[in-house]
Amino acid sequence: MPQGPYSEKVMEHFLHPHNVGDMPDANGTGHIGNPTCGDIMELYIKVDEKDIITDAKFKTFGCGAAIATSSMVTELVKGKSIKDALEVSNRAVAEALGGLPKIKMHCSVLAEQALRAAIVDFLKKKNRLNEFPQLKNFKPEDVEREHNG
Ligand code: FES
Repeated sequence: MPQGPYSEKVMEHFLHPHNVGDMPDANGTGHIGNPTCGDIMELYIKVDEKDIITDAKFKTFGCGAAIATSSMVTELVKGKSIKDALEVSNRAVAEALGGLPKIKMHCSVLAEQALRAAIVDFLKKKNRLNEFPQLKNFKPEDVEREHNG
């Protein structure tokens, strides 16, 4: 299959995404959509009593880069504490995939936002959102970042 501007790793995660599916016992869910392209990402996390993300899954209706970044972000956060998972930026996800074409960088923002939204959901349920001041200005609708690389 021609790979065009995409790295081998992007193609691998697009064609064989990891961690796809529902998670009925998730304790955090992030649902993010990009109104411009219409792509939608849902990300689920399971967090244990020590704040470690023990499992992560996703369902994405979107472009190949959205699928590859969803797949990679779920891989990157498994085993991380929520605090460390909050450090996983869209750029880190894109880097782990061997890079993304400039015009596709915004797709990785969807993955970052979905992860954050899932963590916010988890913390809200536990009434602990105020323990993470870095989430104070979190805006789920901030998905258009990086349109110009
Ligand atoms: S074009 Fe919509 S997320 Fe990629």
